[in-house]
Amino acid sequence: MDKLSYPKNKIKVVLFENIHENAAELFRTDGYTNLEVLKSALAGEELIEKIHDAYIVGIRSGTHISKEVLQKCTKLKVLGCYCIGTNQVDINEAMLQGIPVFNDPHSNTRSVAELVIGLCIVLMRDLFNKNAAAHAGQWKKISAGAHEIRGKTIGIVGYGRIGSQISILAEALGMHVFYYDIEQKLSLGNVKAVAKLEELLGLADIVTLHVPETKQTRNLIGLEQLKAMKPSAYLINTSRGQVVDPDALAEALKSKQIRGAAIDVFRKEPEDNKTPFKSPLQGLENIILTPHIGGATEEAQENIAQAVSQKLIYFINRGNTEGAVNFPNLALSPIENVHRILHIHRNVPGMLSQINKIFADRHINILGQYLRTTQEIGYVVFDIEKSYKDHIIDALKHIEGTISVRILY
Ligand code: NAI
Repeated sequence: MDKLSYPKNKIKVVLFENIHENAAELFRTDGYTNLEVLKSALAGEELIEKIHDAYIVGIRSGTHISKEVLQKCTKLKVLGCYCIGTNQVDINEAMLQGIPVFNDPHSNTRSVAELVIGLCIVLMRDLFNKNAAAHAGQWKKISAGAHEIRGKTIGIVGYGRIGSQISILAEALGMHVFYYDIEQKLSLGNVKAVAKLEELLGLADIVTLHVPETKQTRNLIGLEQLKAMKPSAYLINTSRGQVVDPDALAEALKSKQIRGAAIDVFRKEPEDNKTPFKSPLQGLENIILTPHIGGATEEAQENIAQAVSQKLIYFINRGNTEGAVNFPNLALSPIENVHRILHIHRNVPGMLSQINKIFADRHINILGQYLRTTQEIGYVVFDIEKSYKDHIIDALKHIEGTISVRILY
């Protein structure tokens, strides 16, 4: 457990939205016992009332941390989004106030990869229609049109975290694996890269999409691309709704341009489970629709709780900002027998020389200095000898452009 100059049990931590219990456990084990765990999100004055004196706040996608909320929460040091997205937070305002925001884009990779493999089998065996028929009293014991996935070709578009994880599972099941990515990637196993998307579309029995939402990937799969696929092929999209043109896909499914599809992500997704869901893909017999559940597993939630809490604790304990989405990234290890001071400031010329002058004028030896900047802010961490005097903190705070100063230990 890292030691801090400020007692950990006085540092208020608030976790919203039923974040997995692993998070609270990690905080408590590290000495953060002033901890409040809420089952749901709060908004407006209720939210401000709850977190105005909190140092550490953890949310999921339902808590909106606006500029106004940030301005009223003057003690807030760090914010954790226990999910992938950070749109619910004004991360720019948080940066300007010296508050790093952390999320976790990795922990549900395996969940998505497993769902895709499951969908490959369900599509290839027409399980969803056979299941519906059996429930309706029809016996459809037919082998025509049902296939093993062994020996079939899967074409992965986007060979990042999820795409490459799928390639490992697919190979283990005896599939031939090809991928297309705009970046040069190291292929795992016997997986092969192709140079053009059209080439991949033409050779795959299953095309699965794992690209981010960018200008370039909007409508990446439209009518033309669907026509480039084999008529016996299936399309799976668990990436983002914008990547596939839904009208073109509906058309291709109706005209049997392709054999079937499984879609987990949509252009317009309901904000909660009570809001009705509408899509041009509804009602077609050769498509599986799922409500954006690719990454929604208990294991992923457990891993996210662990990963995000660890990042928050490492920031408070050590000043580490590695992985922050809005902040200069500094990887820092703890160090013994020194004082560690964090200085967050606007990125203006001459800042570092003013800071160094304060130490030099007081004959304080700097044992380590780490600096990272973005266009707007700078983050510098000093490890100084033990003979430090309290008043240097005041001097550091008075440098024009300073956002915040903190002595860790
Ligand atoms: P990643 O960033 O690790 O990989 C994305 C890959 O796509 C990169 O290798 C990148 O070079 C490549 N790429 C970018 N533009 C491309 C283009 N125009 N053509 C071909 N390749 C391109 O992302 P990760 O973690 O694998 O996630 C992939 C997608 O899955 C994202 O859209 C993410 O939002 C989505 N996702 C969906 C979930 C769900 O619940 N359905 C859960 C988790 C992620």
